[in-house]
Amino acid sequence: MGKPTQKEKARYQLLRQKLLDTYRGHFDDILSKPPTAAVDQTQHRWETLYPALLKPTRHAVLLNTFHGEPYFQHPGEAPTNPRLGGSLDERLRNFDLKSSGEVSPLELLEDAGRWLPPSCPLQLYHLPQQQTDSSKEYLLPPPLKNLHGLKNYYCLDFASVFPVLALDVHPGHTILDMTAAPGGKTLSLLNHLRSSLVPTTDTTASASTIKTRLHVNEIDFQRRKRLRVVLDEYVPANLLPSTSSTNSIVQITGKDATEASSFRAETYDRILLDAPCSSERHVLHQLHKQESASNLHKDLLNWSPSSSEKIAKSLQLKMLTNAVQALKFGGTVVYSTCSLSPHENDDVIENVVRLVDKQNRKRTKDALRRREADRESGDDSNIEKDGAEDVPHPPTKPAQTPLPELWTLEIDHASWSIGEPTKHGWMILPDQQDNAGWGPIYFCKITKKRKKGSR
Ligand SMILES: C[S@@+](CC[C@H](N)C(=O)[O-])C[C@H]1O[C@@H](n2cnc3c(N)ncnc32)[C@H](O)[C@@H]1O
Repeated sequence: MGKPTQKEKARYQLLRQKLLDTYRGHFDDILSKPPTAAVDQTQHRWETLYPALLKPTRHAVLLNTFHGEPYFQHPGEAPTNPRLGGSLDERLRNFDLKSSGEVSPLELLEDAGRWLPPSCPLQLYHLPQQQTDSSKEYLLPPPLKNLHGLKNYYCLDFASVFPVLALDVHPGHTILDMTAAPGGKTLSLLNHLRSSLVPTTDTTASASTIKTRLHVNEIDFQRRKRLRVVLDEYVPANLLPSTSSTNSIVQITGKDATEASSFRAETYDRILLDAPCSSERHVLHQLHKQESASNLHKDLLNWSPSSSEKIAKSLQLKMLTNAVQALKFGGTVVYSTCSLSPHENDDVIENVVRLVDKQNRKRTKDALRRREADRESGDDSNIEKDGAEDVPHPPTKPAQTPLPELWTLEIDHASWSIGEPTKHGWMILPDQQDNAGWGPIYFCKITKKRKKGSR
């Protein structure tokens, strides 16, 4: 991009103001929901949220529990390097940064266990929130690798773990991670399932004996490549697809999640749809970065106040509709975004529930119409016969076109230790929990249920 003209600069400033007004407007819509004790509502919420969004994203450390598996010690191989011995969190804490004359930021690592449900098998630590005006950067040392090259921790936004916990995965589940790159949630899912994927006592067990399956999908080729690198760096090779193994637990595809034909109907017990979204915090950070370098943020020139509604309609609703079709009865989908916009969050949930009801009504109406037509034509093609050609048939009854099996979507309104409720889901915002800095993450858990008496 060349040097911007005065006209371009003026248009940019106008768009920039519109963008901020729109974000604030989206947030006012969230505020119209009942306030919660988790947040100080005495002042206008945007006044606390906006500066919190501008701060650097606060990272947490997910310990990779595959890193220390005895499973990887193949017969005849040397035991794990004693320098890396001890529990994973000890290793991470004891990482020696003193040589650089710094106090290890790892001493500041705080156990995130108190925020997690007691049954949560994930081990997470987080660093204190950085101040924008502070020159102090909490830099983590690079992750350590074990003898098999697997890294010991992955950095992520602590809030992003909650949609994975809400998914409630269990051994034996067939799971779809519908839009997976770069893979933070895939890793959380695999770490969550670790004990069912890797039998720690039987080092010869093959993956084929374990029924848990994880289908990981990502449409973008470059992002899918990045996802594969992440999986290779953190997950044992025998769980991953390869030319030599037909037994992998993880399958990776590049399908378009907006296409109804991409996933087989009624196949998955659990689906995580971490949808592409407006990512307002990321946009604000990009704006700040570009403008500090006296550049215009060129993505802003393609932005319009209706962008959020467009994403919701053209991507998110289609993906969620396909996700609920691909769920088994009794299965659960967790829909999540990192957007503030109700268009991309609660509205998508409301619209998918409405769409399913509409489809149900149409299918019932069509079936009743076909029944009526059968009756009028006296068609008996749907009646079962015993196959004996020469036995005289009893008088035929008019055919009964079966009524379709109908289903409905049930929204779960469970509460979590961090964040606050929205109309249908749950939201974790960076100004919550004493400005903890996590998020934004919105998520909503939906279960697919057979409609009683639908046949
Ligand atoms: C919010 S990111 C997912 C982040 C990921 N779950 C994680 O935790 O690392 C959304 C992803 O959806 C992908 N995506 C966008 N459109 C898609 C489509 N039509 N089908 C499948 N994936 C798509 C994007 O390339 C992007 O990687």
